[in-house]
Amino acid sequence: MDTLIANGTLVTATDTRRANLLIRGERVAAVTSDEPPADCVIDATGRLVLPGAIDVHTHLDMLLGRLVTADDFASGTMAALCGGTTTIIDFAGQERGSSLHDALERWREKADRRAVADYGAHVMITDVNDRVEREMDSLVASGIPSFKVFMAYPGRLMLDDRGIFRVLRRARDNGALVMVHAENGLVIDELVSRALAEGRGEPGAHALTRPPLTEGEAVQRAIALAELAGAPIYLVHLSTGEAMDAVERARRRGQAVYGETCPQYLLLTDQEYERPACEAARYVMSPPLRPAIAHSRLWAGLASGDLQVVATDHCPFQAGEKWPVADFSAIPNGAPGIETRVPLVYHAGVRTGRLSVTRFVELISTAPAKLFGLFPRKGTLAVGSDADVVVFDPDREVTLSARTHHMRVDYSLYEGWTVRGAIDTVLLRGRVVVEGGEFVGRPGGGQFVARAPLGAV
Ligand code: URP
Ligand code: ZN
Ligand code: ZN
Repeated sequence: MDTLIANGTLVTATDTRRANLLIRGERVAAVTSDEPPADCVIDATGRLVLPGAIDVHTHLDMLLGRLVTADDFASGTMAALCGGTTTIIDFAGQERGSSLHDALERWREKADRRAVADYGAHVMITDVNDRVEREMDSLVASGIPSFKVFMAYPGRLMLDDRGIFRVLRRARDNGALVMVHAENGLVIDELVSRALAEGRGEPGAHALTRPPLTEGEAVQRAIALAELAGAPIYLVHLSTGEAMDAVERARRRGQAVYGETCPQYLLLTDQEYERPACEAARYVMSPPLRPAIAHSRLWAGLASGDLQVVATDHCPFQAGEKWPVADFSAIPNGAPGIETRVPLVYHAGVRTGRLSVTRFVELISTAPAKLFGLFPRKGTLAVGSDADVVVFDPDREVTLSARTHHMRVDYSLYEGWTVRGAIDTVLLRGRVVVEGGEFVGRPGGGQFVARAPLGAV
């Protein structure tokens, strides 16, 4: 079956052009000024035609502490598609003392036959030994070329410096990319204990116990460990000027340091913690929201190239589950965002002139595809690429609300915000999966994507 997306403005990371996009089966067959015959024509007059967005940081159906995240692979990937994201890379978590392959198997049982967008996995390593290092090699060879380690959450997820160094060393040799959650977990735990002992249990104290330098120090240390190991490194959800200082310094020295931020760190501030406790609890995430001064550093990093990716860290819990509000340390960390990333970054990035439209595409699709081994199959609109396409109306306004979003969570971080720029139609491998803002795809229509190591792309 042939589909023609006609009369739109095609945007890639390198250029914008008025052209028609011919799709044959699951792939892009031509980018042309002609009007070849097709079984189905989608008129994109006045619209941008973008490569499907890629979200490399999601937590679906994942046990975190004592709770499982509210979106499973069906609801989470449906919300992703409605927000213009056609591929996610989620996290399979190693249970301490057990194997990475087991982690992946358990994760696939949850994802396979449920996901409606395409999906891949990073494996989170919480315990390193010789067998785990060998497993890293075989996972890379089988299409899982990225791992995540935590410098936070001692006793649960945190690896010490020796463990992180071992993971990085092995990654240097097998070509994997190591993602790091960089916050100094031990200092934070001490600050949490002190805050609670002083009777500071309210949600806002969460931010006070994770001051910017707990991120800045950990980012510096992670970068130093990567340099010692001779491996590239990818820092997730950066939120501070302190982190940006360290990233910029390392990149100026020529080190392979890559960075991600998320819309919540670009758009929201720690003022949210001034809300009544049961509302403030919704904004408990790690790192926490920061003073507004961090925004300009993060936007500048996105524009200059020091940061490469905007992902979501989608980790949703129902607002009710974010209580008890009297002890912030018991509030599950994380917030929803898988559906709102693309319109928010367009609205706040491109509309304001902070980002060019090509840079916008690079940040939400092309760079994640390149860093995580999906390019050029995904992340661009080129002949032979998967026909993952978003028809985007740059002028239509939408109001973000939990009443209308598709994420299985009863609040939005952006409740009532009106953004300009909205998703009209989404195609996944040539099939229309979102039309008029609603999911029209097939249950379980997503495909697992095996990925290539960083150096191979
Ligand atoms: O608060 C957050 N970010 N929760 C999800 C787990 C993580 O740290 O990425
Ligand atoms: Zn994290
Ligand atoms: Zn995360």
